[in-house]
Amino acid sequence: MARQMQTSSQRYFIKTQGCQMNERDSEMMGNQLQQQHQMQPTTNVSEADLVILNTCSIREKAQEKVFSELGRWKKSLGYKENAVIAVAGCVASQEAEQIFKRAPFVQIVIGPQTIHRLGDLYSACRRTNQKQIDVSFPAIEKFDHLPMNTRSNISAYLTIMEGCNKFCSYCIVPYTRGEEISRNFSDVMHEAKSLVQTGAREIILLGQNVNDYYGKLHDDTEANLALLITAISQLNGIERIRFTTSHPQAFDETLIEAYDPAQTKLCNHLHLPVQSGSNRILKKMKRDYTVEHYISIIERLRDKRPNLRVSTDIIVGFPGETESDFEATMQLVDTIKFDQSFSFIYSPRPGTPASELIDEVPLSTKKERLARLQQRLKYHANQIANEMIGETMPVLVEGISKKRKNEISGRTENNRIVNFPGTAAHIGTMLSVQITEKQENSLRGRIAAFHDNRQPVISASECA
Ligand code: SAH
Ligand code: SF4
Ligand code: F3S
Repeated sequence: MARQMQTSSQRYFIKTQGCQMNERDSEMMGNQLQQQHQMQPTTNVSEADLVILNTCSIREKAQEKVFSELGRWKKSLGYKENAVIAVAGCVASQEAEQIFKRAPFVQIVIGPQTIHRLGDLYSACRRTNQKQIDVSFPAIEKFDHLPMNTRSNISAYLTIMEGCNKFCSYCIVPYTRGEEISRNFSDVMHEAKSLVQTGAREIILLGQNVNDYYGKLHDDTEANLALLITAISQLNGIERIRFTTSHPQAFDETLIEAYDPAQTKLCNHLHLPVQSGSNRILKKMKRDYTVEHYISIIERLRDKRPNLRVSTDIIVGFPGETESDFEATMQLVDTIKFDQSFSFIYSPRPGTPASELIDEVPLSTKKERLARLQQRLKYHANQIANEMIGETMPVLVEGISKKRKNEISGRTENNRIVNFPGTAAHIGTMLSVQITEKQENSLRGRIAAFHDNRQPVISASECA
């Protein structure tokens, strides 16, 4: 019996795992289902006609989560009779048909570069009752087929390039996302304008290797990331620009220049993954830079912005990592004084060169190193938060606070969430906020003034 045909009252549910590129892909899939297929979103998996899990395979644990999540939903919440279950993203790309074998109730498998075909695969699945799969890498056509946002978040993602050519020895991304490819400069600018027109005040430029961006211009020359940031900074209404993730090897002089506050709207923050503080390990990881090079980038940036906050990603327990390699990482953490960062135990990924290396470091040692590292990272992040108390700084208001209805919530330039008394009228504005208190995962504050010197809507005394 064919599954029932699509109707306009159908609902979809999406859960996203993994990085910001996946989050943006999920938004684009949602836009497509709403605008081109007249479906409605739901947050309740058991009432969805189409259930999509957008997956990540960066570490083994992430990959395993896919099957446990699908099984858990099935058991505890139940799927609607006739619901179509789809697996999207990097696990889809990596495991392809294998997914149908491991989870026979999955009907659609769709890779990250073909998300624009989701609606068609769904219709085909309904029409024929056959499983559908598309994990191909058709250049960068997805952006030409997906509708723009009709409403944007105050802080909005904009994917400017896809894939990765770096082939770091431990990493699965080049295999799941394919070759590096940049979108045209004019297409990116068109999307940036549309994001600002539909409410965005901050744009986060996305790519696995975002500073390798080279977007074609009309005259067939190429614009790099610095030029793109400079152009977006001139759009009316844009308050802030961030980019992630950049690579130290391709961090050139033009990007360092772009940190001149007079030139662009870049935040006083940079996320620059270092992975290890040992040159020996960096070489084995095939990262193509030295610790000294990494430090010199940060020093040159801090010449322009003495207070620049830097966060990073670190892998511990890479095959062959000795105690002294690990100590070098701890040393680097103290040298840079990283702000809130991410750290992981190395996870061998199938098909990557590092997975062939003999790994003699016991898991207990890796766990103990991770705990020491995280404690040190936390120490510096707390120090930075303590330094912020009493300071007044620009905060972009993103919404009503999750915990208290009479409070609003925004972010500082170094990505700290600040909650403070205010009203919905402040959403989307940049305020000067005095930080008053540090809490477990956020800060509290009070409005000092509008950042552009207008009077605050409510006075500081009302907020106290
Ligand atoms: N393109 C980015 C990061 C992509 S993945 C970059 O080059 O930095 C995000 C982070 O996951 C990486 O920075 C790395 O720290 C971590 N990671 C990637 N592969 C991993 C693996 N096999 N085991 C553990 N952590 C890994
Ligand atoms: Fe993975 Fe390296 Fe590419 Fe980052 S630069 S996505 S770590 S291969
Ligand atoms: Fe994960 Fe794929 Fe992103 S492996 S980190 S979802 S690019």
